[in-house]
Amino acid sequence: MNLSLNKNPAQSKKTSNLSGTCAIPGDKSISHRSLIIGSQLLGTSLIYNMLEGEDVICTANALRSAGVPIVHDIKNGVWIVKGVGIGGLNQPDNVLDMGNSGTSTRLLAGLFAPYPFVTMFTGDASLRKRPMKRVISPLSEIGARFMTRDEMRLPMAMQGTSHPVPICYTLPVASAQVKSALMLAALNIAGDTTVIEPIPTRDHTERMFEAVGISVTLSQQEDGMHITVHGQPKQSYADRELTVPGDPSSAAFLVVAALITEQSEVTLTNICMNPSRTGVYVTLKEMGADISILNEREVQGEPVADMRVRSSTLKAVDVPENRAPSMIDEYPIVAMAAACAEGVTVLRGLEELRVKESDRFAAVVDGLRACGVRVDAEGDTMIIHGSSNIIGDASIATHMDHRIAMSFLVLGLVTEAPVTVDDVSAINTSFPQFMRMMRGLGASMHTLGSKQNLVLPLRRKDDQRLVIAIDGPAASGKGTLSRLLADSFQIPHLDTGGLYRATALRLLAQGGDPNSEDDALRAARTVNVHDLSNPQLREERVGNVASVVSSLSSVRHVLLEFQRNFAAQDEGAILDGRDIGTVVCPDALVKIFVTASIEVRAERRHRQLQAQGIEVVYDSVLKDLISRDKRDTERKVAPLLPAMDAIYIDTTKMTIAEVFDEVVARIRRDMLERVERVR
Ligand code: DC
Repeated sequence: MNLSLNKNPAQSKKTSNLSGTCAIPGDKSISHRSLIIGSQLLGTSLIYNMLEGEDVICTANALRSAGVPIVHDIKNGVWIVKGVGIGGLNQPDNVLDMGNSGTSTRLLAGLFAPYPFVTMFTGDASLRKRPMKRVISPLSEIGARFMTRDEMRLPMAMQGTSHPVPICYTLPVASAQVKSALMLAALNIAGDTTVIEPIPTRDHTERMFEAVGISVTLSQQEDGMHITVHGQPKQSYADRELTVPGDPSSAAFLVVAALITEQSEVTLTNICMNPSRTGVYVTLKEMGADISILNEREVQGEPVADMRVRSSTLKAVDVPENRAPSMIDEYPIVAMAAACAEGVTVLRGLEELRVKESDRFAAVVDGLRACGVRVDAEGDTMIIHGSSNIIGDASIATHMDHRIAMSFLVLGLVTEAPVTVDDVSAINTSFPQFMRMMRGLGASMHTLGSKQNLVLPLRRKDDQRLVIAIDGPAASGKGTLSRLLADSFQIPHLDTGGLYRATALRLLAQGGDPNSEDDALRAARTVNVHDLSNPQLREERVGNVASVVSSLSSVRHVLLEFQRNFAAQDEGAILDGRDIGTVVCPDALVKIFVTASIEVRAERRHRQLQAQGIEVVYDSVLKDLISRDKRDTERKVAPLLPAMDAIYIDTTKMTIAEVFDEVVARIRRDMLERVERVR
């Protein structure tokens, strides 16, 4: 297997003595629901410990494009959702890009179905392969109409309905997503909508409805649980705080790591213990796992606890089919535990595993066999022959699947030779902190690229350094965005406007004439790197002269070399300015163009100046910006304009945190598309 092309491979090696305490990041299912249900309430919801994985960001962005104000307050670690109330959504103003997230797609299809407008969904290559029939069927019954690609896959357009019909629907597959899609649709349908669930699935939606005061009736009958939502309830304004409990599915990777490695003792805090999610712990306990449940409590209707886990000698088990819904996401990691257990483990009823983010059934079987574990596959049953001596020494194909990547990295902690997984980028969808936490517990687990970039593991060719070019007009927010990205990627940043400002400052100090090319050129030649930290650079008078000298091609030429050298550093670089994507770094891996309306930019600049104690009226700031824009865009050399292949972002109605989230999601998507093209 080729490990070098555009991927972010990682490796784990034999480790013992894992020890320490980890607070588990927010549960993915509950994070999605907090945002969606928060959007349907009246009043503000403050959401703490939300999982900031890419799937959840997709939900946030989709809701934003339907008119729900959602602000990510990075400093205080809280997401603020201003609810628009039931029936209060607008038609999304663009195709909703759901990335890798099946949950976002299915839940939001339900939410939007009882609205009389068209909503369009797409996603990445893996999501575009996943079946949507399961939501299309019941939502068609309530009156929505769909157009999809072949076999009911994304891209998909949904014509919502202005006369939605309340239905009684029996789930043909055990799917919490389909149940929740219908429950969310039901909010905006007059009358009672009932979902009948023959096999229980995770009940986070029911619990959160109740916790925020939306009434749901549950009635256990012979054919299953009847869940009835009384549509269009009366709503009143209230602000609330929601804390997302830790994800038991994420915790399971750390739990199994502690169980199978020798002399380990690990404490994990804040784990959601909802019985519809803890099948994995029942199974592990049956296998003889030493797991103690501590400090049990309840948070917004969800049981929550801490867990102490010690190394254990595991024994094989036979996991019954009916446990699948409560541990469907955990089979890959349970399969790793089974590979290390004494005896032959049988995992039954794994049909659903074939239509997850990848064909997980095949990925687990192939991966285990590559590590030297004997595995038999019989229909939907997987039979794993445990061993205390697994060879490893394998390269695992993760198929862009986060749980496959994490599972095999955990297995590599006990194999004789290291296990390599071809790509850990997908781990960001659910558990961005995974590798960092594992290393914190003492695990030998590292990415194989030169940089361990856990915030944003970009896939890049080995010989292609990460250079990000950011352009945009004055006060568009490009400087702040660049600094945030530079922090996340841990790469150096150059504000190239500073070079033109430094030229202007030198020219002023030398008593030169801004309109004399000779004077400007002389000033440009004397600029050095220390000038860039001079606080006088930010003064408006300097900015105005910078705008004049920057229209001279000889000046630009002198400053070009410095910028290109900066971009050529081994660590990669971020440069922001006006012509970075078009002239300075036309080969940059990522190009971004940020802009905003002139009024909003003037307001931002005005506020910034006031904060610095500089008294200036808004109208004069606006006038200055208008003339600067004119000079920057109309000049003959290197005029301000977006590169053809730039990501274009209008920040008029966005906070900087939103811009950052959007850019991160877009960069990742672009990278994934690039990988697909290469494949
Ligand atoms: O971004 P800023 O306001 O600090 O930039 C100061 C001036 O320099 C501005 O008028 C545009 C110009 N500039 C440029 O022409 N090319 C760049 N790459 C960066 C800035």
